[in-house]
Amino acid sequence: MDNKVRKTWTSNLGFMLAAAGSAIGLGNIWKFPYIVGANGGGAFVFVYLACILLVGVPVLVAEMFIGHRGQGNTVASYNKLHKSNRFWQLAGWLGLSSAFLILSYYSVIGGWIIDFEVRSLMNDFAGMDEAQIKNILPQIFSDPLRQALFLSIFSLLTVGIVRLGVQKGIEKWNKILMPALVIVLFLLLANCMFLPGFFPALKFLFYPDLSKLNYASILEAIGHAFFTLSVGVGVMVTFGSYLKTGTNFVRMGVTLALVDTFLALLAGIVVFSCVFSFDIEPSVGPTLIFETLPILFSKISGGYFFSVSFFLLVSFTALTSSISILEVVVAYIEETFEIKRNHATLMIAAAFFVVGFLCVLSFNQMNHVTIFGFSFFDFLDKLTSSLFMPISALLTIIFFSWVLPANKGVEAALERVESRVIKNFFIYCAKFITPLLILTILLLGL
Ligand code: PHE
Repeated sequence: MDNKVRKTWTSNLGFMLAAAGSAIGLGNIWKFPYIVGANGGGAFVFVYLACILLVGVPVLVAEMFIGHRGQGNTVASYNKLHKSNRFWQLAGWLGLSSAFLILSYYSVIGGWIIDFEVRSLMNDFAGMDEAQIKNILPQIFSDPLRQALFLSIFSLLTVGIVRLGVQKGIEKWNKILMPALVIVLFLLLANCMFLPGFFPALKFLFYPDLSKLNYASILEAIGHAFFTLSVGVGVMVTFGSYLKTGTNFVRMGVTLALVDTFLALLAGIVVFSCVFSFDIEPSVGPTLIFETLPILFSKISGGYFFSVSFFLLVSFTALTSSISILEVVVAYIEETFEIKRNHATLMIAAAFFVVGFLCVLSFNQMNHVTIFGFSFFDFLDKLTSSLFMPISALLTIIFFSWVLPANKGVEAALERVESRVIKNFFIYCAKFITPLLILTILLLGL
């Protein structure tokens, strides 16, 4: 399929919104608080911020640029930029595989969120005590049919929007949903300021006790930096390929990272204010927001309103992310096999639903099955964020800063950056710091 039929964003702002919609998702509101909790708080946040700046942003810029110059899906863009050596498409392949696997488990969590939204609408939390609320998620885990139902609803929504066309779906929805999410988060924050756990939460998040750090948490911080910025998965390559004109990629990358980090920290403050007010263990893991927030909602005035709007908005941010992930795979299948978008979308949907259902079963019927000691669900998460995404990112950054000739790679991406200092810092990072950090962490992880 040639470039004439490639879709484009209506404007660079449209791209920015779509990229923000992809980046801001369950990673910010669900995953960030629980991994901070599990890794001891402030020290982890500190490492995470360093990873975003030194690793996340350079790879983000590289991906957007490769997509824009390559004008193809996540595999084709690498090939088009380096016709004589097809090795680098491996970065695209790893991204593509991660996209498929992430979509499968991400949709399961999307299903839990919709389930919580339905419970909020029915005002379920109001009459429950803390122990009952903490018990909701374990109940959901033990019920494969209920999970499959909500997984189907979430998947159908994702597929429905991607079939409709990305720009209209993503650009339009993000314009409405992102500001709304920020407003609800601020309202929740305002409520949390009056909780006894507010200051302990700030201390927990921002006081870096470096003695709590270990290699595993650094690996997790890098993995999460990729996950939360949607890099190493081909999203930014695919989205960059829909950019009509060049842009200041560094400014875009930094803005995106700032907005994404700001929202994650905001969600962290809200969640930990509840954790320290209602006697919840900060390190409980993935169930964290499903316990803390409903308990808060059951206690504050206007809890019904907050609960309904919060889970609705989280569903939408999950959707804007899952749409972007599905788009990576759809663009690849559609362009490579010249299949109609409609058919490509449905085929992939059927496949990721099956893998998603296996994730559902890993919480109940198949909970005795482990892969390298992980449940199937956790295995997909670990495989993608600790292995596939970092390797894809490593190949991308080497390709961008060492393999492509400078005037077609790193320096071309900096064309519109005026400050010499920023240019030099960025080039230094992209050539040395970023690849070395990713490599070190990968080796330590292995
Ligand atoms: N960045 C999204 C989030 O934070 C998740 C995501 C990962 C989206 C990879 C696209 C690609 O939830």
